[in-house]
Amino acid sequence: MKINLAYFSATYTTQRIIRQVAAQFGTDAIREYDITQQLPTEEIRLGKDELLILGAPVYSGRIPERAQEAFRYLKGEGTPVVVIAVYGNREYEDALVEMKDLIEANGFRLISAAAFVAQHSIFSHVATGRPDAKDMRLAAEYGKQLAALLDNAEAIEALPLPAIKGNRPYRDIGPSHPMPIRVEEECNACGTCVELCPYQAISAADPRVTDVAQCRSCGRCIVVCPLQVRRFSGEFFDMVGQKFAVALAARKEPELFF
Ligand SMILES: Cc1cc2nc3c(=O)[nH]c(=O)nc-3n(C[C@H](O)[C@H](O)[C@H](O)COP(=O)(O)O)c2cc1C
Repeated sequence: MKINLAYFSATYTTQRIIRQVAAQFGTDAIREYDITQQLPTEEIRLGKDELLILGAPVYSGRIPERAQEAFRYLKGEGTPVVVIAVYGNREYEDALVEMKDLIEANGFRLISAAAFVAQHSIFSHVATGRPDAKDMRLAAEYGKQLAALLDNAEAIEALPLPAIKGNRPYRDIGPSHPMPIRVEEECNACGTCVELCPYQAISAADPRVTDVAQCRSCGRCIVVCPLQVRRFSGEFFDMVGQKFAVALAARKEPELFF
């Protein structure tokens, strides 16, 4: 069976988790559509004998707009799909339902879903270091369970419909207000952040300047900076950060739905 991965992953945790799941199928026939930096240029058609694993981080209880747009390019023919939401130990709210609705409207059939936990890409003191060894073990076990599910299925349509969590209508998240980014003096304008920003929000002439109208606070510029001189800052960031340190201290575990 050909495995297809399609994902948005600004700080690479979604990518790590879905690659770990896919690796358990024991095949080299894995195609990746990383849509973090650009939309597909044309429709991607997948047959019934293929599997799609769709991954997105949770942004305000939903999936990022870029993922919503990009996933519309995927077209199935009753093709089985697994949806995976990765969240920063707060909540994933409607992200799984949103992914399911979007992809089923394009001819795919949901066979399973999962919510995994990773370090919060804005508040890095929340779920720091996750996915950790335990999470990665669970992702591997999940991949094996999926492979067995498909191996043993008489027909995709005969598989049970997973009862996932989430609500419709989805959470209304309103306009985004990016967190200011502080850049230390040591920035040598190497351009790594400019090149890798999913939203082309950083000035090539002066990477200290971020266009707040484009920025989505995805955190990529911070994790890719070779000198580690970029960080979120500001009163709102400090206030929410303190609140989250207390409210989100308890470890949440991945949830799997079949
Ligand atoms: C704009 C934004 C909004 C977020 N909203 C949530 C949220 O509602 N719940 C949560 O638990 N984590 C939230 N997070 C954290 C991310 O879901 C989490 O860090 C995820 O692992 C990021 O995935 P990535 O590494 O693939 O980019 C948010 C992160 C960003 C950047």
